[in-house]
Amino acid sequence: MEIFRTDRLALRELKASDADAIYQLNHDPGVIRYTSDGPFPTIDEARQFLLNYDAYRSYGYGRWAVIRIADNTFLGWCGLRFSPETGKTDIGFRFQKAFWGLGYATESARGCLEYGFTKLGLPEIVGRAMKVNIASIRVLQKVGMHYDRDFDFDGSEGVLYKIKPADFRA
Ligand SMILES: CC(C)(COP(=O)(O)OP(=O)(O)OC[C@H]1O[C@@H](n2cnc3c(N)ncnc32)[C@H](O)[C@@H]1OP(=O)(O)O)[C@@H](O)C(=O)NCCC(=O)NCCS
Repeated sequence: MEIFRTDRLALRELKASDADAIYQLNHDPGVIRYTSDGPFPTIDEARQFLLNYDAYRSYGYGRWAVIRIADNTFLGWCGLRFSPETGKTDIGFRFQKAFWGLGYATESARGCLEYGFTKLGLPEIVGRAMKVNIASIRVLQKVGMHYDRDFDFDGSEGVLYKIKPADFRA
């Protein structure tokens, strides 16, 4: 199901047929380097992960596939994740290396913030990154998020960014 479009991108729900694409995504050590994820052992385990992914049903939103409208290419994912432990919603993004540096993370993240605030009525969205993940921090800053504090990112130094609806400009 499509969620929204930006100038160049369509964000839609992830589905089992994305297994090959997300397997390839996490298979690149450069892509998962500053995340707490590992590669999927097999494409079938990636498919199982997608079949079990219940965020859309449980919370009404989650991480979404980012598709380039011009040629229907699966670029990666971006989206909002609700944490029942903290009660907070975070923004996250991950793209195939071939598509880095083209503004796709910024464009899709901005769309997610707009969707989160205007359609979902979220009171705040947070973003987390390892301190060494300059590109990710840059994206959080470019979409208007503000540094809040340092935190422990699975044993690495992490930074927490935040934004409230009043501070968001589409
Ligand atoms: C983080 C990520 C999503 C960024 O995607 P992207 O589409 O390349 O991002 P954008 O093109 O929208 O913007 C990237 C910004 O970071 C800057 N940047 C990238 N690498 C940089 C570096 N090493 N040093 C300084 N700035 C850097 C770019 O110049 C750009 O900023 P600018 O527009 O001011 O020039 C992508 O690198 C990725 O998928 N990384 C692996 C997964 C990951 O780490 N996700 C985040 C986990 S918290």
